[in-house]
Amino acid sequence: MERVDVVIVGAGPTGLTAARTLTAVGRSVVVLEARDRVGGRTWTDRIDGQMFEIGGQWISPDQTAILDLVDELGLSTFPRHRDGDRVFLAPDGTRTVYSGDAFPVPERRQSEMDRLIGILDDLAARIGAERPWDAEDAKELDSISFHHWLREQSADELACENIGMFVAGGMLTKPDTAFSTLQAVLMAASAGSFSNLVDDHFILDRRVIGGMQQVSELMAADLGDTVVRLNSPVRTIDWSGDPVVVSTDDAQFAGTDVIVAVPPNLYSRITYVPHLPRLQQVFHQHQSMGLVIKVHATYPRPFWRDAGLSGTGFGVGHLVQEVYDNTNHGEEQGTLVGFISDVNADAMWALDEEDRKRTILEAIADFLGPEALDPIVFHLSDFGAEEWTRGAYATSYDLGGLHRWGRYQNDPVGPIRFASSDIAGRGYQHVDGAVRIGRATAETILSSGHRSD
Ligand code: FDA
Repeated sequence: MERVDVVIVGAGPTGLTAARTLTAVGRSVVVLEARDRVGGRTWTDRIDGQMFEIGGQWISPDQTAILDLVDELGLSTFPRHRDGDRVFLAPDGTRTVYSGDAFPVPERRQSEMDRLIGILDDLAARIGAERPWDAEDAKELDSISFHHWLREQSADELACENIGMFVAGGMLTKPDTAFSTLQAVLMAASAGSFSNLVDDHFILDRRVIGGMQQVSELMAADLGDTVVRLNSPVRTIDWSGDPVVVSTDDAQFAGTDVIVAVPPNLYSRITYVPHLPRLQQVFHQHQSMGLVIKVHATYPRPFWRDAGLSGTGFGVGHLVQEVYDNTNHGEEQGTLVGFISDVNADAMWALDEEDRKRTILEAIADFLGPEALDPIVFHLSDFGAEEWTRGAYATSYDLGGLHRWGRYQNDPVGPIRFASSDIAGRGYQHVDGAVRIGRATAETILSSGHRSD
């Protein structure tokens, strides 16, 4: 059995950042990864020769943890293409080309949306991302769905729909009836404000040249392949004695501490000996993944730019809720990315492949015209079908769960610590949060003074 200071489960950005932090000060670690690759929900792949970001890609200007790490690893970023007009599809299908940031809706509706954004900005500023469960109205906000809360604030149904989509389809990838207002406020606070969340210039600002997965690949290369073990799903964590023993199908590792750096919906895939306390066994069941399909379509040229369009489009209630220019740095061919969330994603996976492709391309063509119907490469992300993720983008609590259990989500159980972007405060659900919580968890272990003999 190999002996290390810290056994890390999962080679996503969280686990690898934790490993990097620990090895930088001489601690020994092993990182056990179930998949045959590192990066987890960041995955830069080639489909029919075309590079796509199948998973996480965008970085906002306040995400300094990932920006600094990108820099440290010698990588560079580039801004998303956004010059030109945008397209708005109203719920009745009316298509409007517009410039500026505000949706082309009647002035009264826009001022109602601004008012709702203002209320949410105030809540995000007051409640914050670190301990939302401590707010005096946490229980109240956690007991009402974001959908119903919005309709308590405003009688303007379309204003509510326009605001709801930024958190529902746009971030948590669940219907807005399925998560609480406190969860929506956490999402906004983790991005700095609700205004930031609805500002695509901010939230979808930059990408890594060559792809986000390189962040994990370069960290793993620095650690070396004796440290990072691929194809090693962790089956059992035996913490009945000291050291704790972590088992894969064919190897055992002993460590003083363990970091479980996997999304919360996968915690219960591991057998704990003894089993986890009642509290964790219960609340781990209340954090579930949303579901979104990330659609990529590549064309010989970014044809939409010829028509003066940026490639950005929003369609409230439309099959593809958002579409953006996702052309890779320095490429001549143009790439669009679109997102199909929750119940719409269910409906698409229920179709056969040909109908699914046609339906989705028609929905993109509604924004950008008939040329969108004929991509040279087309790809749908399918993280819901991946055993070691089981959804996208990330997990959130069901109604009432955040204020009831959030305060315990970062607590260690004996030598076992849990860490992932999904339980990060700042950078929640983002690679930035993964880097922050990976580093913070490693630092907590370092400050505890534990190490193997
Ligand atoms: P992550 O899930 O990445 O890694 C966990 C690792 O643990 C995986 O490699 C998994 O295989 C492994 N594992 C699980 N169980 C195991 C076991 N029992 N034994 C061993 N290994 C195990 N973020 C962002 O900042 N900008 C963006 O644009 C996007 N967009 C986006 C799109 C899509 C489609 C997805 C799915 C996600 C995003 N994200 C994002 C979110 C971002 O990708 C996510 O927050 C981070 O990858 C989370 O990193 P973690 O390391 O916490 O988990």
